[in-house]
Amino acid sequence: MRPIGVFDSGIGGLTVVREIFRILPEEPVLFFGDTARLPYGPKSAETVTRFSRQITRFLLARNVRCVVVACNTASSAALPVLERESPVPVLGVIAPGARAAARETRSGVIGVIGTRGTVASGAYERALQAIDPALRVVSEACPLLVPLVEEGWADHPVTEQVVRQYLDPLLRRSIDTLILGCTHFPVLRDVIGKVAGEGVVIVDAARETACALREALPPGEPASKGAPSHRFLVTDVPHRFREEAELFLGAPVERVERVETEQLEGICQE
Ligand code: DGL
Repeated sequence: MRPIGVFDSGIGGLTVVREIFRILPEEPVLFFGDTARLPYGPKSAETVTRFSRQITRFLLARNVRCVVVACNTASSAALPVLERESPVPVLGVIAPGARAAARETRSGVIGVIGTRGTVASGAYERALQAIDPALRVVSEACPLLVPLVEEGWADHPVTEQVVRQYLDPLLRRSIDTLILGCTHFPVLRDVIGKVAGEGVVIVDAARETACALREALPPGEPASKGAPSHRFLVTDVPHRFREEAELFLGAPVERVERVETEQLEGICQE
């Protein structure tokens, strides 16, 4: 059975894989985490696009059924190029998150939190305004939340303080819906929900993407017998990924293999 290709700048994309496992339990997944070159959030759109094209071609060469761009920063920077270049469907996280937020909002004021790259791209604004030009979007880059999650500090008081600081300008603008526009933020769902308060609906772009994938998957593949086998590929040493994976995936990963970045760099010449 051809796998679903999923890629991310590193480990956070496992929050999307977790939802795919839940919603599409029969599908084998080939996950690619670019752990040697993370983070993508502070990098230029040009660099993120170059890395994303390389990884997409790498996955296509492994005969994936579709490509899920689990990384918000990569989806913001590179999705149109990847869609143009891929013979199989390419699904990003922005449109599913935006659709869910547009459905949920009552006041029409939607907050978006993500990396600097995602917020600077304006990708969520464009997606939301394409759905309804009357929607108002307030965005905030929250770069410190990424290392706090990776440090395992989801429940730490410092993290709550940082979340308060970042959400303050959004809450002042009376958002009633908040998009978690970064792979790492579903891990902080409880503290973000607590700070945002009951009046704010939290939209998890990872979950919405898995739902959209169920609709977008090309038909015709027979379901596998028994549990599907998944593969996890990374560009840095596998042991760190293996150690941190459970935090994002909710389950341990067994097989993690290494791919050298040199192998990727030869893939796209232009
Ligand atoms: N995966 C990235 C995203 O969702 C967050 C981590 C990074 O900056 O690479 O935007």
